Amino acid sequence: MKKVFMPLVMVAILALIPFVGVQYAGLSYLFGVIIPYTAIVVLLAGFLLRLADWLRRPVPFRIPTTCGQEKSLEWIKYDRFESPHRFWEVAARVLFEVLFFRSLFRNTKAEIHKDANLAYGSHKWLWFGGLAFHWSLLIIVLRHSRFFFPMVPGFTDLLSHVDGFFDVTLPTFYITDAVVLVAITFLVFRRLNDAKMRLISLQTDYFPLFLIAAIVVVGVFMRYLTRLDIMPVKDQMLRLVNFSVDAPGDIGALFYVHLFLVSVLAIYFPFSKLMHAGAIFLSPTRNQCNNSREKRHINPWNTAIKFRTYAEYEDDYREKMKKAKLPIEKQ
Ligand code: HEM
Repeated sequence: MKKVFMPLVMVAILALIPFVGVQYAGLSYLFGVIIPYTAIVVLLAGFLLRLADWLRRPVPFRIPTTCGQEKSLEWIKYDRFESPHRFWEVAARVLFEVLFFRSLFRNTKAEIHKDANLAYGSHKWLWFGGLAFHWSLLIIVLRHSRFFFPMVPGFTDLLSHVDGFFDVTLPTFYITDAVVLVAITFLVFRRLNDAKMRLISLQTDYFPLFLIAAIVVVGVFMRYLTRLDIMPVKDQMLRLVNFSVDAPGDIGALFYVHLFLVSVLAIYFPFSKLMHAGAIFLSPTRNQCNNSREKRHINPWNTAIKFRTYAEYEDDYREKMKKAKLPIEKQ
């Protein structure tokens, strides 16, 4: 299983680099200032360039995916969300897709039954696992905003309270930490368990999963086991957001592993399948309204054709048509 092993080894090596670098070579400036700045520049520039590249691609035809009645005559009821024909209907559909993975909810699984019949069944686990993964990551990242503002923002406090609802450990156990770990485990085993999935999965499917898992595991270690002092971390993050290039204070090597893996993720993001985060908004099958009965869409690069009307045709051939006793409109 080279496809699984290689990304695993790569993530392990990536985690070791900053640990050795900071612990034994004192490279905290490299891992605490230079690499994070580089990563954010690559992420922003890469993300915007990919979006710009997609935006300038011509989309001459209406190709929204629909599974409902299109808007046509007033008395025919149409489906606003399955076949949207106004901007706000499209926007609502995209929003539901982004927030609740609406199309994945309809995901089906195909199986050959014992009697050799192909059968389709409901398959909600991927939808549920994917949703749990993305939502818990989002909440974790939003909670991290406390490191980037001098005063902890109100919504971060609220999120942390709700997330720490069980209040069972010291420091408070966050539900999302457990959910994200279970979800990542599910997403990895989903690929490993099934022969078809194993076959189509690539190293680039496993790598981001292992990388995010490593970031989460190191974060969990720092919070619950090694009990990292977060004040120097916050000082350093405030320096970074204020574009300062001062050296970081005394922070444990484990933090640099966390930060380095996040930096690798940021650099990897624009060049990988993770760009689906931006692509969903630019996907013509999602972001177009289905109004081709209402509006004529003309391919912009069609060569200009000089059309000849029937009246012009008749003007040219009237005499010949009369001779041939063909009906004419204008005498
Ligand atoms: C993709 C981005 C990131 C992910 C997924 C992530 C994930 C996590 C997770 C799961 C934890 C465990 C505790 C918790 O849930 O709060 C954690 C802790 C931590 N993370 Fe991150 N992290 C990310 C980015 C960062 C960044 C950019 C920093 C830089 C400040 C950072 C600093 C920390 C620190 C200091 C802790 C320990 C918190 C504590 O002791 O309460 N993380 N991280």
